[in-house]
Amino acid sequence: MTENMFRWDVDADGIVTLTMDDPGQSANTMNDTFRTSLTATVERLEAEKDSITGVVVTSAKKTFFAGGDLKQMSKAGRADAAEITARVDAMKADFRRLEQLGRPVVAAINGAALGGGYEIALACHHRVALDVKGSEIGLPEVTLGLLPGGGGVSRTVRLLGIQSALLNVLLQGQRHKPAKAKELGLVDELVDTPEAMIDAAKAWIKANPEAAQPWDVKGFKIPGGTPSNPSFAANLPAFPANLRKQLKGAPMPAPRNILAAAIEGAQVDIDTATKIETQYFVDLVTGQVSKNMTKAFFFDLQAINKGLSRPDGVPQYQAKRVAVLGAGMMGAGIAYVSARNGIEVVLKDVSVDAAEKGKAYSAKILDKAVSRGKLTREKADEVLARITPTDKAEDVAGVDLVVEAVFESPELKKKVFGEIEALVAPDALLGSNTSTLPITDLAEGVRRREDFIGLHFFSPVDKMPLLEIVVGQQTSDVALAKAFDYALQIKKTPIVVNDSRGFFTSRVIGTFLNEAVALLAEGVPAASVEQAGTQAGYPAPPLQLLDELTLTLPRKIRQETRAAIEAAGLEWPEHPAEAVIDRMIDEFDRKGRSSGAGFYEYDDEGKRTGLWPGLADAFPAAEGVPFADMQERMLFAEALETVKCFDEGVLRTVADANIGSIFGIGFPPWTGGVIQYIEGYEGGIAGFVARANELADRYGDRFRPPASLVEKAEKGEHFK
Ligand code: NAI
Repeated sequence: MTENMFRWDVDADGIVTLTMDDPGQSANTMNDTFRTSLTATVERLEAEKDSITGVVVTSAKKTFFAGGDLKQMSKAGRADAAEITARVDAMKADFRRLEQLGRPVVAAINGAALGGGYEIALACHHRVALDVKGSEIGLPEVTLGLLPGGGGVSRTVRLLGIQSALLNVLLQGQRHKPAKAKELGLVDELVDTPEAMIDAAKAWIKANPEAAQPWDVKGFKIPGGTPSNPSFAANLPAFPANLRKQLKGAPMPAPRNILAAAIEGAQVDIDTATKIETQYFVDLVTGQVSKNMTKAFFFDLQAINKGLSRPDGVPQYQAKRVAVLGAGMMGAGIAYVSARNGIEVVLKDVSVDAAEKGKAYSAKILDKAVSRGKLTREKADEVLARITPTDKAEDVAGVDLVVEAVFESPELKKKVFGEIEALVAPDALLGSNTSTLPITDLAEGVRRREDFIGLHFFSPVDKMPLLEIVVGQQTSDVALAKAFDYALQIKKTPIVVNDSRGFFTSRVIGTFLNEAVALLAEGVPAASVEQAGTQAGYPAPPLQLLDELTLTLPRKIRQETRAAIEAAGLEWPEHPAEAVIDRMIDEFDRKGRSSGAGFYEYDDEGKRTGLWPGLADAFPAAEGVPFADMQERMLFAEALETVKCFDEGVLRTVADANIGSIFGIGFPPWTGGVIQYIEGYEGGIAGFVARANELADRYGDRFRPPASLVEKAEKGEHFK
């Protein structure tokens, strides 16, 4: 028999403290040990009820409870549906027995209680949370393509009302700090010390000997009403409408299932509601999207943050003073995220005015945060005071980190590094935020090439979570480790790639944009192209994105890349998108939003007013392309380019590819990232290869799968 992971201690007043402590595990999860322990513990509580006055549930781990067993869930296939249903319903029956024990049960939440962890707390009558740094409370299942199937939907709906449960907890899976959780009603009491937590729990038990859940009290009504109230029913159609607006047709089943479970469950008693919830949960857990999202947003992300790509044995680095060269759009953002995370910043541009303007960008973001109550004025001023604008090279003296963000010109970049190299600390990390130029070439501008590295940020820097670290041929492990540590210090997710033109992200997103433009060339109406992109799950439609980037940028990159390829004696593979971009620029003078005209039209304030009607004449309708083909051409183009990045040694790990594609270039989250899309395709890699060949036969050889992928399909191997 397995050991019971609920430690049982009873005090002189008859209060039983159950301390969850899964043996040999760093965190408690809803695994087999938990389920058998829960049943045994509930049985014992019932058997010894006469001598028990109340129950406190807490944990011996750093977190209260980590949630579902994601490893086990990731293996669940459609054939396991019946077994999983039985298992989940059995666990939920135990939760019901606990809340109907007839004795007060209090959750003493000593650390993070997310997902299944918070569901345990919900099955208690009262929740006391320790207000400790790093603790988070919520039901983030939706971010993994799942729903809280341990009673989380049914109970939050009854505790908070349908609207608040959906908006504050379920549909976006927010992770709330304890204070916010208290404000929303997710917990009842906040305490500062573990002792105070247990004292508060026991005090509540003594004051509430007859505790029962509100939903078990006769006459209970869900706060805010249910669909059977006319006023609520009148608002009901807005829920699915808003959801459609939010998802824009992307194939994300979890939010839909959550909405259905909440609304349907609100119209029945709690026991029926939890059964409905199980059905919707099992549908998700046995499907592909939850596997994709769990792989990316849990396993890959965890591996990256644990240092998957950080060289071993290099001491931890902490940036203290950074010189940001160039205070334009990117430099200003890099200065902000650095200062916000405690680093002193010297922000240098060609004039003090330009540098001041860069600093003003931080002031604007900080003011907004203060006005929204997210930051105190004092803290905001502290952050701002860390940024020193200047036009003098001497002011960068002694910095331990340089991030260059001047115009995209190799000569200029080399020149600005030349000006400051002798002034900075002798071991300073020298980073360039170039988005396309090979790092190894730029390193020729400095003497210490081993300290030179690419630090590719994304715009807007304060919002985009990714940092693409680019390792040049001479970049040392120490430099890489420092870049990695800096990324985590400024709360970015780092991926590490080897040098090549366009690295990983810029190169791959280019194929997506090209594919959209190629569709135009084939006479697909622009509105359909945009629709296909959005419904595939891309956050921004492709032509809109191109307009933002300006059409001259991809052309410049193409011309430079082509020159480099031809100089190497290779043939340039023409793409049907090229002629469209050239005509847009040369024939129609429509270069994108910044020039006031692109695929879209813009008003005087630069606001999009609609697609340019001239597109229909410029690219007349020809043979139709099936909608599914349009979507898959975009997704496949990016996936196939990613495989080439692996073949060429640009990519080092699957996790970097998946996370980089979602966080950096908007590859649809439901896919789990660009490699998981291939792995999770219907029929696995072999299915993907077959479909790629089909697309190649129909639309061109650029879809022909690379040999390495065909080999994987034949041997039944996976990406490692
Ligand atoms: P920007 O044009 O907004 O800013 C460039 C700044 O550099 C200007 O303020 C300019 O005055 C300054 N500058 C020029 N010469 C200088 C010198 N000798 N010393 C100091 N400052 C000088 O350009 P942006 O968009 O910020 O891009 C900067 C770099 O970041 C480029 O290499 C670009 O490829 C890269 N990048 C841009 C992204 C974007 O979305 N815009 C994304 C990722 C990278």
